[in-house]
Amino acid sequence: MVWRIVLLGPPGAGKGTHAKILSERYEIPHISTGDLLRSQIQDGTSLGKSAKSFIDSGKLVPDDLVVDMVKDRLFKPDTAKGFILDGFPRTVEQAKALDEMLAKRKTPINLVLEFNTSEKVIIDRLSGRRTCSNCNANYHIHNIPPKRDGICDVCGKPLVQRKDDQPETIQNRLKVYEDQTAPLIEFYKNRKVLRVVNGNLEVEPLQEELVQSFQSL
Ligand code: AP5
Repeated sequence: MVWRIVLLGPPGAGKGTHAKILSERYEIPHISTGDLLRSQIQDGTSLGKSAKSFIDSGKLVPDDLVVDMVKDRLFKPDTAKGFILDGFPRTVEQAKALDEMLAKRKTPINLVLEFNTSEKVIIDRLSGRRTCSNCNANYHIHNIPPKRDGICDVCGKPLVQRKDDQPETIQNRLKVYEDQTAPLIEFYKNRKVLRVVNGNLEVEPLQEELVQSFQSL
């Protein structure tokens, strides 16, 4: 089976956490547009400079910039065995652009997993999230704490809070999700590739649901 998967869901639903586990389990790349953009910012590229103010304020980076970035990544050889897209597409325009990219190779998306998650859970997860300043490993101060307070288990460097995880920006991101990304639920429902999972579950039971969805293909 070649898994071509999209993880769809509001900020903080756990897409990145689960994409990492699934990527290791199925040995396919995890492509997160948020991670790609943050690394462009870290490297000081012109894309990073253009994207920074959008990300910091919780707005979406313009479609054309993100689509070009994904095109570059999706055509790398490691995606021949499949891929997990996390945070892309995020608008109907991006979904149409993705369709076009994949149509050229006759390799359509075969599963879109929607993380149905309550606002209360999202706010708790985002306000407690901490990320490694060096290797980007992801923690939560209560749900998935590091062994030593504030220190990454993987590389020993300090954990930081993402700038866009401040309360005001979280509210903006939730609104942006409802206005611009939630219409994709209908878009993929119409294509009969959408499956809904319970994003409120703890990591293990949710991972089981996701694996069942993969196996159902
Ligand atoms: P991005 O990085 O994609 O942010 P997001 O979609 O808002 O998603 P998050 O990373 O906040 O959450 P997640 O669902 O991955 O949750 P996580 O696993 O970390 O994008 C950032 C910005 O980049 C955007 O705002 C935009 O500006 C720009 N951007 C990116 N893609 C774009 C695009 N396509 N177009 C335009 N702009 C784009 O989990 C959250 C926390 O909860 C963690 O602490 C984790 O440890 C914990 N946790 C996770 N799962 C569970 C669980 N099941 N139980 C308990 N705790 C859990």
